[in-house]
Amino acid sequence: MEAATRRRALLLLVLVASSVPAGLCATNAQDVSALRSLMGQWSNVPSSWSATAGDPCGAAWDGLMCDANGRVTSLRLSSVNLQGTLSNSIGQLSQLMFLDLSFNIGLEGTMPASVGNLAQLTTLILAGCSFTGSIPQELGNLQKMTFLALNSNKFSGGIPASLGLLSKLFWLDLADNQLTGPVPISTATTPGLNLLTGTKHFHFNKNQLSGTLTGLFNSNMTLIHILFDSNQFSGSIPAEIGSISSLQVLRLDRNKLVGAVPNITNLVKLNELNLATNRLTGLLPDLSTMSVLNVVDLSKNAFDAQVAPNWFTTLTSLTSVSISSGKLSGVVPKALFTLPQLQEVVLDNNQFNGTLEISGSISKQLQTVDLRFNSIFDTATTSYKKALVLLGNPVCADAAFSGQPFCSIQQENTIAYTTSTSKCSLTSTCRSDQSMNPANCGCAYSYNGKMVFRAPFFKDLTNSDTFQQLETSLWTQLKLRDGAVSLSKIHFNSDNYLQVQVNLFPSSGALFNVSELISIGFDLSNQTYKPPANFGPYYFIADPYVPLAVAVDGGKKSKFSTGAIAGIAAAGGLLVIALIFVGLFALRQKRRAKELAERTDPFASWGAAQKDSGGAPQLKGARFFSFEELKSCTDNFSDSQEIGAGGYGKVYKGTLVDGMRVAIKRAQSGSMQGAPEFKNEIELLSRVHHRNLVSLIGFCYEQKEQMLVYEFVSNGTLRENLVVRGSYLDWKKRLRIALGSARGLAYLHELADPPIIHRDVKSTNILLDDNLKAKVADFGLSKLVADTEKGHVSTQVKGTLGYLDPEYYMTQQLSEKSDVYSFGVVMLELVSGRQPIEKGKYIVREVRQAIDPADRDHYGLRAIVDPAIRDAARTAGFRRFVQLAMQCVDESAAARPAMGTVVKEVEAMLLNEPAGDGGVSSAGSSATEFEGAGRGAPAHPYSDVEITRGSYGGGGDTASDYMPYFEVKPK
Ligand SMILES: *[C@@H]1O[C@H](CO)[C@@H](O)[C@H](O)[C@H]1NC(C)=O
Ligand SMILES: *[C@@H]1O[C@H](CO)[C@@H](O)[C@H](O)[C@H]1NC(C)=O
Ligand SMILES: *[C@@H]1O[C@H](CO)[C@@H](O)[C@H](O)[C@H]1NC(C)=O
Repeated sequence: MEAATRRRALLLLVLVASSVPAGLCATNAQDVSALRSLMGQWSNVPSSWSATAGDPCGAAWDGLMCDANGRVTSLRLSSVNLQGTLSNSIGQLSQLMFLDLSFNIGLEGTMPASVGNLAQLTTLILAGCSFTGSIPQELGNLQKMTFLALNSNKFSGGIPASLGLLSKLFWLDLADNQLTGPVPISTATTPGLNLLTGTKHFHFNKNQLSGTLTGLFNSNMTLIHILFDSNQFSGSIPAEIGSISSLQVLRLDRNKLVGAVPNITNLVKLNELNLATNRLTGLLPDLSTMSVLNVVDLSKNAFDAQVAPNWFTTLTSLTSVSISSGKLSGVVPKALFTLPQLQEVVLDNNQFNGTLEISGSISKQLQTVDLRFNSIFDTATTSYKKALVLLGNPVCADAAFSGQPFCSIQQENTIAYTTSTSKCSLTSTCRSDQSMNPANCGCAYSYNGKMVFRAPFFKDLTNSDTFQQLETSLWTQLKLRDGAVSLSKIHFNSDNYLQVQVNLFPSSGALFNVSELISIGFDLSNQTYKPPANFGPYYFIADPYVPLAVAVDGGKKSKFSTGAIAGIAAAGGLLVIALIFVGLFALRQKRRAKELAERTDPFASWGAAQKDSGGAPQLKGARFFSFEELKSCTDNFSDSQEIGAGGYGKVYKGTLVDGMRVAIKRAQSGSMQGAPEFKNEIELLSRVHHRNLVSLIGFCYEQKEQMLVYEFVSNGTLRENLVVRGSYLDWKKRLRIALGSARGLAYLHELADPPIIHRDVKSTNILLDDNLKAKVADFGLSKLVADTEKGHVSTQVKGTLGYLDPEYYMTQQLSEKSDVYSFGVVMLELVSGRQPIEKGKYIVREVRQAIDPADRDHYGLRAIVDPAIRDAARTAGFRRFVQLAMQCVDESAAARPAMGTVVKEVEAMLLNEPAGDGGVSSAGSSATEFEGAGRGAPAHPYSDVEITRGSYGGGGDTASDYMPYFEVKPK
């Protein structure tokens, strides 16, 4: 990386010195030097930030704006996957007014104090990065600052008192950091945040702030949002808060506040009041003046026992009332349920008694009434049909009611809104890293992120009108094509915020360009985008944009930078790779992908990854090859060395200097595809090491070449072997192939960390070496089972026709069992020699219908079984094998065995095969076969120990073949 940086910097210098385009204002020398040092500490700067693009102000560097004097006034690089630290030289850009580096999760280190030199700065946005250390007190110098958003970083230490000097501040967001200590209050000699009388937004939630709030608020303040939730504030709620009549959202929940709630009757503009989960005492506050109040949560405090307050029935704007554990008694007022906007009532663990009456003209929007653990002994709920929970009330002890749904825990779950793509063809799917654009049903790299609403005025997540308004506002304000917004995973998260996964789609093509990313990122980070009013305040954190994606491993920055690299996905290369779609895509996206490739400089950091082996954990074992090295070992990529070709390019065999034979996949120019496939493939392949998996040895990225270097697997695909040499593959050899490939898959499912679902198991992805040892190839479609609940990955359907798990196809719930299904199909191929679908007949159905246990000779499969193994069809082992295959292709994923079980079963079958001319090991070698673990009891179900070693080619296995070199990592 250093070298590349130096090179870039050098070129930049040369340019600035020599070639400023006439008529354009040359960038100020101090600013050039500042930009140069900023770049020096960043990787993944946009390609326009390169020497060839010319003078920074003169040429259009993405995200940069300058004034007439060549001074940089705006630096906005949101969402471009910058990595590295913020150089101290930022302070030299002394005319800077806007600085937005939001949503670059790879930006880390401390914020340099020199930011305090940017006297013209009005907007500083570092949201959604990984900055650490304390917030420099020098920010207090920035007298012109209006918008300061440092949320969702890892800042620690206290809030600097000097922020109280930012008298023009409109927006102050420090949420979701690790800040500690009190909110500073001014003294005779020091400033404090109580001086910020013009500020509208105090967003301090999700930190570890403590101390009391005494002295912080006063009647001169004009705050509209006070978000102090999820901290450790103590003491009482200051009475002065009741004098800030501009207030719309007051969240003090999840703190340690005590005492009585002060008089807040003046807060007549309040939309949300959340004081839940504190230690407040006294009577419930009087809210009857708050005529626009939508959401109230006073749960889990220590309020005095009392009956339901009057405002329960008079606040006509209420959508949600929550007072869990509130010592409320008496009858639940019937009029509560007739409030016209009401959606949710949560009054569990109180002492309400009498008869619950939900009848008459109740709110049409009412979805949830939770009255668990009260003392209600009768109900009349004639007109209410949605969720009602009365569990733990005397009424449920009554035999007449105990069978009612409202007395059981299980309530029907309402299904939150999701943007529909139902008008798109059911069969069309997108690659795993793309999503479907609801506007045109095309696949694209969407710009994704979570939008979090800190105080929505509603609780109903099923209302499509509500969320369609959000969609419309997004595509309108962000200037996208109508309908090019997809919302999903809508839920209230553990902090009781409404979280929405937002995918935005490019207006043309499949990619956003850098300037589009920067502009959308800014609109969402600086609140230019305004959601519909009932969504309340929000923040947005973008996911890394996939085509520019940077591997972030456990929060640690990886040196693994990416470029757009050609469609190199499958291993070995003798096979016809099922990546035609990648090829097609690559052609279609050729131009854009090229742009993308030039934008990043993967070459640089890969070189670094090589030098700094500890810094590239994803590349375990894979080494970097120079172009020259690979050129010479393939005889200058001569035709005679070519062993395969496809849409992605060609595959060559070669011999490395050390004599190792390799298969080299060389992308042809023009078959560029997205970086993610390449990254996925290279990371996966370099991390998994098992003798039944094709190993990645290394890669080359040089001179516009992208190549992957694999171990050479000499004998072609299982499919080819079945076709060409059917009779050569006797039954026992087939069992061994089944065992080897099953072991490879079992390793992926059960021992790889994180577990890997192959997603495209088929006979053309199983390669055979000279000893017919099976090796599973092609992880191009693999899906890591991370983050998600293990065994349940919801994703778009991928795979190959004939091998596709029907349950996965229908539910899109991907699990390891989908691979098991595909493997079952491969087992049936081994039995029949046929392709899964031949002449319109599907092998699974054919076998299922033909099986006849009464047929002692062929198990009913005479017409189906491969003639080459017809004799074996008489054996019990054959039957067991077919039965196992049928279990694997069971319609129900739950009924299919795990891959580990398949391994054990096939091992047992092999052990029961008689020694014969197939070359089975002699009985005498059985002890070594299992490393002393006794016949029939292998040391480990997928141990690398061959069961019938030496059975082919006169014992060709070398000693190293027996070394268990796979990595067993604890999950
Ligand atoms: C509010 O502002 C006025 C005028 O600047 C000042 O006199 C007064 O002391 C302030 N009140 C509080 C509570 O700070
Ligand atoms: C709360 O304050 C208002 C005026 O600000 C006053 O009218 C009302 O009586 C007070 N309520 C209580 C309970 O003191
Ligand atoms: C219901 O609660 C009210 C208020 O606490 C109490 O006065 C009344 O006696 C209770 N009724 C019954 C039947 O327990």
